[in-house]
Amino acid sequence: MAAHAAPVEFALPQVLTYPAPTPPILVAQGAEGRLYKTTYITPSLPCALKYRSPKQYRHPILDARLTKARIQAEAKVLDRCCREGVPVPAVYALDATAGWLAMEWVDGVPVRQGINVWLGDRPEDDAISDAEVADETPLVDLMKRIGDAVGALHRTGVIHGDLTTSNMMLLPWADGQSNGASSEDGEKKKAVGGDVILIDFGLATQSVTDEDRAVDLYVLERAFASTHPRAERLFTHVLEAYKQTFKKAPSVIRKLEDVRMRGRKKSMLG
Ligand SMILES: Nc1ncnc2c1ncn2[C@@H]1O[C@H](COP(=O)(O)OP(=O)(O)O)[C@@H](O)[C@H]1O
Ligand SMILES: [Mg+2]
Repeated sequence: MAAHAAPVEFALPQVLTYPAPTPPILVAQGAEGRLYKTTYITPSLPCALKYRSPKQYRHPILDARLTKARIQAEAKVLDRCCREGVPVPAVYALDATAGWLAMEWVDGVPVRQGINVWLGDRPEDDAISDAEVADETPLVDLMKRIGDAVGALHRTGVIHGDLTTSNMMLLPWADGQSNGASSEDGEKKKAVGGDVILIDFGLATQSVTDEDRAVDLYVLERAFASTHPRAERLFTHVLEAYKQTFKKAPSVIRKLEDVRMRGRKKSMLG
């Protein structure tokens, strides 16, 4: 394969060896894979390409089988979510054997980033004034949209497996009400605006049990508390919206109490 490609420890699949002017751009490098921004079919359609490179620490045959299974599983779940109206990127194409999956590009920022912009960089113990509390609506609304998205996901029988505010994107709304003269307040509001799109289904499974759903929520609750400690108290709005969107939510929330209890015991015992 292309010997002139950038020096890497293994050959890249052909889809990643496009000549200029549209070479794929490395957006994120995780433990399991890399995420590139590239284009699909026409140079004007951006796409996100997830590539799982061969792992040298694994037996090659086992590694090939794992990679293929994971890409296939991720594509299948995304497809199913798309068909059922869960907000996720559409799958464009995949070559599971080569280890890649091309999907719709979400032109936004991770929810984590939006929330952090909203919170600003005040110290954690900074008292929040009444005025600020009164104007928390845009952040509360974002919490609700997160709960809606997770509710829709669980309704289709999918468990995400790694719900965090980094695995959700904010797709900005069309610039309707913004009038250009954006005050600091307007900027903050904009940072938490947009549709919530769920991404990163590498650990997703299919399940309809209260237990699995509750654990999915618990993972998000814990991730949220550690990523956004100053907004922790707003997590209740995620659960409220989840209840509104998903009719089986009440028994899941009851289960969540057990899961929390187990979590506390576990951390007490070390
Ligand atoms: N469809 C997409 N559109 C735009 N950016 C994406 C898309 N999918 C992933 N990303 C970006 O790439 C990062 C890593 O992708 P992710 O699927 O979460 O893989 P990882 O398993 O490495 O966490 C995300 O946090 C996000 O910033
Ligand atoms: Mg991720």
